Amino acid sequence: MSKDELFAAVDAYIERLFVGEDALLEAVLRSTVEAGMPPIQVSAVQGKFLYLLAKLCRARRILEVGTLAGYSAIWLARALPPDGRLISLEVDPKHAAIAQKNLERAGLAERVEIVIGPALETLPGLQSRGEPPFDMVFIDADKENYTAYLDWALKLTRAGGLIVADNVIREGQVLAPEDSFAQGVRDFNAALAAEPRVEAVLLQQVGVKGYDGMAIALVK
Ligand code: SAH
Ligand code: DHB
Ligand code: MG
Repeated sequence: MSKDELFAAVDAYIERLFVGEDALLEAVLRSTVEAGMPPIQVSAVQGKFLYLLAKLCRARRILEVGTLAGYSAIWLARALPPDGRLISLEVDPKHAAIAQKNLERAGLAERVEIVIGPALETLPGLQSRGEPPFDMVFIDADKENYTAYLDWALKLTRAGGLIVADNVIREGQVLAPEDSFAQGVRDFNAALAAEPRVEAVLLQQVGVKGYDGMAIALVK
């Protein structure tokens, strides 16, 4: 067994133990494949991890950048109290439509608002419509704009809130970026490390999604 196979097998073992059968999430994954969307949602184990982070910061309001089919949105929204709110930003109207259907299927549509458009164009609207601060922000869209999303997350998150970003390791490519994806997250990581308004670290992760990681930042 290769290391990658072992990591995937152990990920499946963790999923069996700590996630279990979840017909709804499995239907969401099928909808992603059927719609021909890229299978780039977080894994089940990462979803459970995001859910726990949201619970740990007692999140009532969460912002997500990058909805895809709503898989991570469902995990995050499940961590909210019934009157909680998740706003998820998505550039592709086709992705947003499928995510909307999936959130309805999950019985979470009332708690979630999908905002369609390039996030850098819709984020100023959130600010100008007077959205109260968020308890948690999950950044998972185009990596080239990660540093700009960090600036927005800092503007929109309350003191003591949490900023999380996916894909900050990319198979170790952050050490020697080979494309704009890896360069984007490398710039983001450097900006996060130098940011005086947060305490942060990167967490390496292995599993069914390969070798990657998430950034975790606590807003002071
Ligand atoms: N968070 C999702 C996966 C998101 S994949 C999950 O884990 O289930 C990244 C998503 O970001 C894609 O749906 C893509 O269309 C979207 N995206 C890419 N560029 C964007 C932009 N500029 N603004 C908003 N969304 C963007
Ligand atoms: C990829 C993976 C992701 O988790 C993501 O958010 C975007 C792209 C990828 O592997 O290309
Ligand atoms: Mg991702």
